[in-house]
Amino acid sequence: MKINVSDFLVVANRLPVDRFVGPEGEVGWRRSPGGLVTAIMPLMRGRDGAWIGWTGSADEEVAPFTDEGLYLVPVPLSAEEVELYYEGFSNATLWPLYHDAVAPPEYHRRTWDAYVRVNRRFAEATAEAAAQGATVWVQDYQLQLVPRMLRELRPDLKIGFFLHIPFPPVELFQRLPWRREIIEGLLGADLVGFQLSSGAANFVRMARRVLDVRAQSGRIQYEGRTVQARSFPISVDVGELEDLISRPEVQERADMIRYELGEPERILLGVDRLDYTKGITQRLEAFGELLADGELKPGEAVFVQIATPSRERVEQYQILKDDIEQQVGRINGEFAQLGSPVINYMHTSYDRAELAALYLAADVMVVTPLRDGMNLVAKEYVACHKDLQGALVLSEFAGAAPELRRAFLVNPYDVDGLKRTLLAAIRGEPLDLQRRMRAMRRRVVDYDVGRWAETFLGALYDEGGAESADEAA
Ligand code: ADP
Ligand code: G6P
Repeated sequence: MKINVSDFLVVANRLPVDRFVGPEGEVGWRRSPGGLVTAIMPLMRGRDGAWIGWTGSADEEVAPFTDEGLYLVPVPLSAEEVELYYEGFSNATLWPLYHDAVAPPEYHRRTWDAYVRVNRRFAEATAEAAAQGATVWVQDYQLQLVPRMLRELRPDLKIGFFLHIPFPPVELFQRLPWRREIIEGLLGADLVGFQLSSGAANFVRMARRVLDVRAQSGRIQYEGRTVQARSFPISVDVGELEDLISRPEVQERADMIRYELGEPERILLGVDRLDYTKGITQRLEAFGELLADGELKPGEAVFVQIATPSRERVEQYQILKDDIEQQVGRINGEFAQLGSPVINYMHTSYDRAELAALYLAADVMVVTPLRDGMNLVAKEYVACHKDLQGALVLSEFAGAAPELRRAFLVNPYDVDGLKRTLLAAIRGEPLDLQRRMRAMRRRVVDYDVGRWAETFLGALYDEGGAESADEAA
């Protein structure tokens, strides 16, 4: 198979589009789920770059192709590798471990072996597609071994790595039987980027501990090279969202949503992948208790929860799906009136225009993860509220919290605190809400995803100062 070479490559577990087969057997592509694709896609438009990743289906060899000017190089995975590398090591070991072990991480040698094997395949595909001296930007926890493997194959490349999820404290990370290999893998990069300075500090501490390296001000001396470890809080494409909300059809749709919901006084909204880190059950519990206590009257507030299906064959995700369905049924069973549920739960994914209309319609955006690398949904909501309306309830444990300090911050483990905070947001004074929104917008508009990428790539070429971007927030 002939592959064109590129000067700028993104390497991620998933391509920005997912392959699907329709009911008539026709093959199509749709946008892949999650924040990584949301963030990276706008940067790649207009760049003459390549994206190396998996198509989302097992046992398929798809030739490289061009989509909206972007060169896509599929990396095949067998059904067994999907089970062991993707569902297993990536999403039943690393994902829960890096998110404070909110679900118990599993440790299996077989899934680790598949992780090594698939990381090598990604490194080889990248080595083949990269021009001499190219810049390669490796993304996220599924590919932490790629930087080292790639450097061994192609020492001429400039290699950056960005971790979209938290890098855990030493006490958690050191449980990993393959901790040394992961740290060595990441140190193959010239720059390792994290969402928050605490993640960068955890990484440096761990590198010192397992490899006894010297490090100062986020610069690690390793095998005769300097590797930078710094934070770059990721953001959203403000231009795209502002364009969407300025469209009359999106504004009309927002009005229609309110009408279809029965014109409640307040619309509360949750938008997530269906993931146990997102704190969906906690927020619904708090909402249900407010109705049970009589603090909220049905009709006063309606909760809209949309949740994209995610990682559906991983056990913890199946448990969560059942739990939420039961919880929604129970709360609606108790408080709904004919034709007017108190919780509207949609287990589906919407296009960007519908999402923007939902953000516009929502009076209170409820973002309550138990742990989250950043959480783009919180920033998307703020970007859509140029009108300075609306309130954001935000978990202290979201990476976005240090930047969005004027949100209604909350500890999602504290049900009473969550109830109080929801009520404060629901009953907020318009002037106070406007002040909060103005302050949050300043940050999101100033430091959008374009600035994020510029800052990262500037640092990769060592053009930036040593200050961490979230410390500057
Ligand atoms: P994660 O990356 O863990 O999924 P983020 O909040 O950072 O979490 O990013 C989620 C992205 O996916 C956002 O861009 C959001 O708009 C999008 N998204 C989440 N849920 C849905 C949904 N039900 N329909 C469409 N897009 C969604
Ligand atoms: C998060 C992760 C991404 C991942 C996305 C969707 O954003 O950081 O790496 O792609 O979730 O998850 P999935 O398992 O469907 O790729």
